[in-house]
Amino acid sequence: MVKDHILSQDIGIVSAQSELRDHYQRPLTDLRISVTDRCNLRCTYCMPKKPNGERYNFLPKEDLLSFNEITRVVNVLAQKGLQKIRITGGEPLLRKDLDQLIASIKSIDGIKEVALTTNGVFLSEQIDALVDAGLDRVTLSLDAIDQDLLNRISGRTVDLEKVYAGLDATLQKDLKLKVNTVIQRGVNDDHFMHVLQRFRGTAVEVRLIEFMDVGGLNQWQLDKVVPSRELIQKIEQKWPLEMLGRQQSSDVANRYRYADGQGTLGFISSISQPFCGHCSRARLSSEGILYTCLFANTGLLIRDKLRDGLSDDELQELLTQHWQQRRDRYSEERMTKPGRAHAESEKIEMFYIGG
Ligand code: GTP
Ligand code: 5AD
Ligand code: SF4
Ligand code: SF4
Repeated sequence: MVKDHILSQDIGIVSAQSELRDHYQRPLTDLRISVTDRCNLRCTYCMPKKPNGERYNFLPKEDLLSFNEITRVVNVLAQKGLQKIRITGGEPLLRKDLDQLIASIKSIDGIKEVALTTNGVFLSEQIDALVDAGLDRVTLSLDAIDQDLLNRISGRTVDLEKVYAGLDATLQKDLKLKVNTVIQRGVNDDHFMHVLQRFRGTAVEVRLIEFMDVGGLNQWQLDKVVPSRELIQKIEQKWPLEMLGRQQSSDVANRYRYADGQGTLGFISSISQPFCGHCSRARLSSEGILYTCLFANTGLLIRDKLRDGLSDDELQELLTQHWQQRRDRYSEERMTKPGRAHAESEKIEMFYIGG
């Protein structure tokens, strides 16, 4: 049990007696909840426009987990060590009355933090209500600060001024804000220095993300991935960096600071340096399927069981057993056993499973 002990200390968790561990002794501390599969954008790497104008088939409203159902799941898992919630989508701000869900989740014992990942288009109009409900942090997906390039990557016209208004409003509320920038070779790999420049000298931390093979629609190819070490070399020619590393070993980003004191940045290197070893994340899709890996092709459908009258104790037992059996380490296996990678058609899309 030495390994177990090190892991708990590493991620700063006081080991509760009831704490859940998976097959590799990884705890479940982080739940990402997708509240809708819809999005106002059509990013080429996530939800690309379909040929011939074909539309996406989104889930009907009655198939979505209700706020009460989501809160029940969080409540039961919080008793097993869950601490961090991230609200995602699709675009989560398309779900009506999201502040009410945040308020319910924040009132649960053990939940230390609720964060939101958004494309920012509707942020300025909702931020007051979200913060009043208890939202702790915001991560903004922003792949370019050039209007034409951003439109091209986003598959739609994005009102950049509106996104900046959301960003400013969030900072005015004193919320910590990160910017996620997915880098694709030949698309924005000669632009990301402008994104960094825009946020240098501010409290905003930009994270440069390697384009991942998640889902089957985005035509992922290895040669479109720019490894983080290549980005670091390029950045250091202009701004020397000092490595900070991960705050907690379960963090996805490896952090750096500018040596001249102008702020911090992060690299999310899921392709070149996978981080499954400390992965403590589960995902709840908007229709109520629990996935234990971003790259899973099957999950546990909780919604119907909840609607069939499952008690909280039964729900806890079901989730406990599911996590204890978990052996996911897809990104690491992709490197060592490429033959085990799932076929494109089997993979679940990111807008559905939740980033
Ligand atoms: P904080 O550290 O709490 O700010 O959040 P985060 O960085 O974990 O969350 P965010 O949703 O911003 O994740 C950033 C990106 O990291 C995602 O868009 C994914 O590209 C990638 N990512 C997040 N979680 C995982 C994971 O479990 N596996 C892999 N392979 N990639 C992940
Ligand atoms: N590769 C890397 N990141 C992705 N995201 C969505 N699809 C991909 C992908 N294929 C990111 C978005 C957003 C977060 C939810 O996930 O940019 O920041
Ligand atoms: Fe929408 Fe985010 Fe996917 Fe872009 S990456 S299509 S903003 S869910
Ligand atoms: Fe976790 Fe799966 Fe991502 Fe590995 S690939 S870090 S197991 S979600």
